[in-house]
Amino acid sequence: MHPDNNQQASGAPRRHFSANAELRSPLRYPGGKRQLVPFFVDLLKLNDQSPLDLFIEPFAGGGAVSLHLLAAGLVERAVLADLDPLVYAFWHQACFKTEQLVADIAAADVTLKEWHRLRANPGKTIREKAYACLFLNRTSYSGILQGRAGPIGGQKQQSKYKIDCRFYKDEIIHRLRQIGQLAAEGRIAAVRRTDVHTTVRWIEENHSQSRRLYYFDPPFWEKGERLYRKAFGRPQHERLAKLLINLEAPWVLSYDYHDEIIELYRTSASAEGQASSGLVPAGAPRLHTTDLVYCNRHERRGATELIITNLSNVPHDYINGT
Ligand SMILES: C[S@@+](CC[C@H](N)C(=O)[O-])C[C@H]1O[C@@H](n2cnc3c(N)ncnc32)[C@H](O)[C@@H]1O
Repeated sequence: MHPDNNQQASGAPRRHFSANAELRSPLRYPGGKRQLVPFFVDLLKLNDQSPLDLFIEPFAGGGAVSLHLLAAGLVERAVLADLDPLVYAFWHQACFKTEQLVADIAAADVTLKEWHRLRANPGKTIREKAYACLFLNRTSYSGILQGRAGPIGGQKQQSKYKIDCRFYKDEIIHRLRQIGQLAAEGRIAAVRRTDVHTTVRWIEENHSQSRRLYYFDPPFWEKGERLYRKAFGRPQHERLAKLLINLEAPWVLSYDYHDEIIELYRTSASAEGQASSGLVPAGAPRLHTTDLVYCNRHERRGATELIITNLSNVPHDYINGT
């Protein structure tokens, strides 16, 4: 297997973290979903899905939800996939070449000069790209790796907050080693640099016997192109809707809230003959698993998160109308 493509961990003996263990992502991710962790914990319990064999994040980004569920022992193994080669490289190194990445972070020269060097050329090898990803993520405004997002503290470094203010080496290294330990225990089933459609196909071909849950967190409906190096236009959002409507395995989708997304899933569902009456109001009895069962809003720091899932039960605390 080519190292720049996919990587699977060996089946080392499992050793679980304690139920309250915390594992925070080393990446500060725009749209990172750490706030949704309590929702997932309740969702898994309510649907009798924990412990789950496999949790799949086809839009991994910072992988906040996977890391927490793994550390808490609520899922056995996770698959992390992201189309962005820098993000993929980061996960590959963090999981399978942890000490290399640790050494690179320990030796990092956290300066504006290094920031410019890496923005101009993140490197060619996986090792270089992983380091560039983590460095730029922790030194750029809001963790954004691209576009006009500048270094923390600005180009003149006149702000009270300088470029290194979020580069806590010891803490980053600690988190990297926690991830390395999970991978060494065989709990990172795979890290992939693949498009969401390829990831789903691969999982359904290779892991269809696993008790699994997909968590799709695609690029934002609005402004996604400002935040991610790999963003989505309307056709990609539509293609994703079609994929999900036809996916029988359990899945959860989260989006920045827009009525057009609900409309898209409603029309896609009826076009595919999956849900004649469209989205079912929260609290309604369960239909078939392939129907869209719930669509609910989850308030998050003033922003509204849209969650759509084909699971039959959604914890009531999180339902805020449809
Ligand atoms: C909203 S972010 C995910 C954030 C993540 N849930 C977290 O908690 O940090 C979306 C991610 O999808 C990735 N992406 C964009 N297009 C993709 C595609 N077609 N297939 C897979 N990943 C893609 C982006 O690189 C970005 O990392």
